[in-house]
Amino acid sequence: MNRKWLLLLLALPGCGVSTASLAAQTSIAPEDIRSGYEFLQPDTRFLQDDDFSNPGYLWIDRGERLFLEPSPEGGPACSSCHASQDLTLSGVAARYPAFDAREGKLVNLEGRINICRSNHQALAPLPYESDDLLALAGYVSSLSRGMPIDVVIDGPARAYFDLGQTYFFTRKGQLNLACSQCHNEHWGKKLRGDTISQGHGNAFPAYRLEWQAFGSLQRRLRDCDTGIRAEPLPFGSETYTALELYLASRAQNLTMESPGVRR
Ligand code: HEC
Ligand code: HEC
Repeated sequence: MNRKWLLLLLALPGCGVSTASLAAQTSIAPEDIRSGYEFLQPDTRFLQDDDFSNPGYLWIDRGERLFLEPSPEGGPACSSCHASQDLTLSGVAARYPAFDAREGKLVNLEGRINICRSNHQALAPLPYESDDLLALAGYVSSLSRGMPIDVVIDGPARAYFDLGQTYFFTRKGQLNLACSQCHNEHWGKKLRGDTISQGHGNAFPAYRLEWQAFGSLQRRLRDCDTGIRAEPLPFGSETYTALELYLASRAQNLTMESPGVRR
């Protein structure tokens, strides 16, 4: 185990309070909300800012091609429906995850794309973290780049918000740490060569230098759970999707950065 993680663990206060009161105690004041971008080294920021250097654009370009052309397996191209004004996908990614009344559940952007594959293209869903699904999700997200996050957390979405919030404040893993202890209480401090950010998801799908690849927010969440020696949840699980919703609502005032670049 990395010594710095242990030292951090020892420095953390105990907890015997409910998650609702913890949320009130340790949440970040709206005026202090900052994107992970602001904690990056200048050379990583440069990669994100410069479209020609940003490796995420390899996936965005692939996603655009997949979007414009009919799949070799058949079915109409995404663009055959989504090019028109009333079905344009500009700004849509900023509203996800969202409750889908027909599915009767919360769906994230990857899930929504797969619903179109099944319902509108008669194609099998793309596996999570496959290059094609990342490329499509990245392309659709890029159509919201620079737009403010805008998720709905009331009505039928409320129960998912609560589930995500509870996960965020629950200690787990062999290190017995909660997300909140790093990202609400210790942001700005150094950990394993990183500066701990506030843990927002607005850069994802993002290119991570450590992955040497483009990856989803859920892949990043799995890395954080693994880091505290907790069993990561399966991709697409209800709890991670609910956590995505909680993170998006917590990141109010931030704009969409995908394709982001991270260490
Ligand atoms: C045959 C037409 C059709 C095709 C092809 C299609 N979609 Fe859709 N899509 C729709 C319709 C209609 C909706 C609105 C919800 C519904 O009725 O399913 C939608 C909804 C969406 C949404 C959510 C929009 C929102 O406002 O919340 C996304 C994202 C999306 N589609 C992405 C895609 C992608 C990516 C592809 C290709 C992989 C695709 N769609 C293929 C018709 C289509
Ligand atoms: C032991 C401390 C620690 C814990 C606990 C932890 N993380 Fe992280 N997390 C990090 C570090 C370090 C990084 C990489 C640097 C950064 O962006 O914060 C990171 C990155 C992230 C990012 C990416 C931020 C960005 O802008 O790229 C998200 C999102 C995130 N964490 C969410 C979570 C969630 C949700 C949990 C609980 C399931 C969690 N983290 C638990 C330390 C932690």
